[in-house]
Amino acid sequence: MVVGLGTGSTAAFAIEALALRHRQGLRFVGIPTSQRTAAQAAAAGIPLTSFAEHRQIDLTIDGADEVERGTLNLIKGLGGALLREKIVAAASRRLAIIVDGAKLVDRLGTRVPVPVEVVVFGLEATRAALEALGASAPLRLSPAHDPFVTDSGNHILDCSFGPIADPARLEERIGRIVGVVESGLFISRADPVFVADAAGVHRLDSPRAHGRIGT
Ligand code: A5P
Repeated sequence: MVVGLGTGSTAAFAIEALALRHRQGLRFVGIPTSQRTAAQAAAAGIPLTSFAEHRQIDLTIDGADEVERGTLNLIKGLGGALLREKIVAAASRRLAIIVDGAKLVDRLGTRVPVPVEVVVFGLEATRAALEALGASAPLRLSPAHDPFVTDSGNHILDCSFGPIADPARLEERIGRIVGVVESGLFISRADPVFVADAAGVHRLDSPRAHGRIGT
């Protein structure tokens, strides 16, 4: 199998578990969604591959920052890896999301902003266009207070819209802004979502999964 390896503190546990399964004989190759994840996976002995060798990923396991109850639409990218995460998700037959219960919301945008990756050139104009959609859009800074730079050399504007009534439409509108590379709205991509809380781990299936065989 070709397995997409997510980014973040939750996905890191999955990579650890996959590395253990690999040592026990499970055969797979991984495509990492960030340099950070590539380093962790390589150090743990997971063989890595790339899109040059594989266009299609069988399964990706990743975290998320918010999961909308019912639709399983997501906000991702607080860890800064949203672009590669979305490319990997788009090439994956299945995107399994792992979160803790605090990340389940009735409406996306309730707890966290929508990270939007933008090219550095023209950043102020791109930001004004995002603000015209109703967001406050501060530039993400690194711990050293410099602009945060993604693995692809771009910046991130953390766009707060408040609770989002129509995330699919918002994703389209953000995507039409020149200078935007990608947004952290993941619409109709997750299935299933595994949620951990004090009672244990439970699985949420996408409404799109109904009628599918072998899920
Ligand atoms: C990385 O860019 C993000 O999309 C992560 O998947 C997300 O931030 C979840 O991270 P944690 O598992 O660390 O909360």
